[in-house]
Amino acid sequence: MNESASRPLAGKTAVVTGASSGIGRAIALQLGRAGAHVTLGGRTEDAMAETVRQIERAGGAARAVRLDVREVDQVRALVAGAVTATGRLDILVNNAGVSFPSPIADADPEQWRTMLETNVLALLVGCQEAVRAMRACGAHGHIVNISSIAAQRSDSGVYGATKHAVNCIHATLRSELENDTIRAVNIMPGAIATNFARNFDPAFVAGIVKSAGLEVEVKKGERLPDEVMETLQPALAQMLGHPDDVARAVLYAVTQPIGVNIAEIVVRPPKQIAL
Ligand SMILES: NC(=O)c1ccc[n+]([C@@H]2O[C@H](COP(=O)([O-])OP(=O)(O)OC[C@H]3O[C@@H](n4cnc5c(N)ncnc54)[C@H](OP(=O)(O)O)[C@@H]3O)[C@@H](O)[C@H]2O)c1
Repeated sequence: MNESASRPLAGKTAVVTGASSGIGRAIALQLGRAGAHVTLGGRTEDAMAETVRQIERAGGAARAVRLDVREVDQVRALVAGAVTATGRLDILVNNAGVSFPSPIADADPEQWRTMLETNVLALLVGCQEAVRAMRACGAHGHIVNISSIAAQRSDSGVYGATKHAVNCIHATLRSELENDTIRAVNIMPGAIATNFARNFDPAFVAGIVKSAGLEVEVKKGERLPDEVMETLQPALAQMLGHPDDVARAVLYAVTQPIGVNIAEIVVRPPKQIAL
């Protein structure tokens, strides 16, 4: 197989937020294996270090940056660091996201703030910085925003409201970039086996884990071990997709000719559960 077929992103620079877990980690790995120089942004350093090693073992290059995407300056520095390291930016994946599912009457407004700052503000700042960096280096670039099928329902809570905002921001950006060589891509995953449910009711999560034949202590706010995810997903494949399913969709979108805009993709398992 020639280089352009096996490593279609050789010479490209990518930044992925929320690359320390789940969908973002799978996307970083997919882009790195396809030849991109990947900057991973997230909070859990050992998970990112392992992904950097996996990309390097596949012959690629990657670096990891610990950050809190809710801090505007840290998102700016994440993009700037990738440009400093490689001289360019071709792909930004705004993936970091959180959900705190509580009825509006009972919820803690600080959790709304966390969702709004992580899912919306950080994504907006990422989009702005990426457009500036891609224009500066004349990239044939892609800005990929990870939304959700929650944006397809109008009663999907405050989390769903943040994903409706993502869809609106994506559509606006797509239109603003029509005359640039930068394409906006919106990906709406269905239920995927990740640590996304870390802030859900632990009894609910433990019930799902148990239905796959696993006994694990589930603590609110904490990540589950990778081995649990690796067993859980194939056991419940009808209702829980694999993070790689989303990562392959991202790779497809960012490897199209720049005159093609894969504007929106929904990736979900066969059986739909509400998010
Ligand atoms: N899984 C699903 O069913 C599903 C469905 C539709 C859409 N999505 C979307 O997919 C995206 C990825 O979620 P996931 O399912 O992969 O969940 P996940 O396993 O919980 O991963 C979320 C990622 O975001 C990072 N993150 C969260 N807050 C951050 C902050 N303030 N600063 C830096 N990083 C932060 C996490 O870092 P740490 O782990 O290091 O804390 C982690 O890397 C989210 O936008 C989510 O809304 C998920």
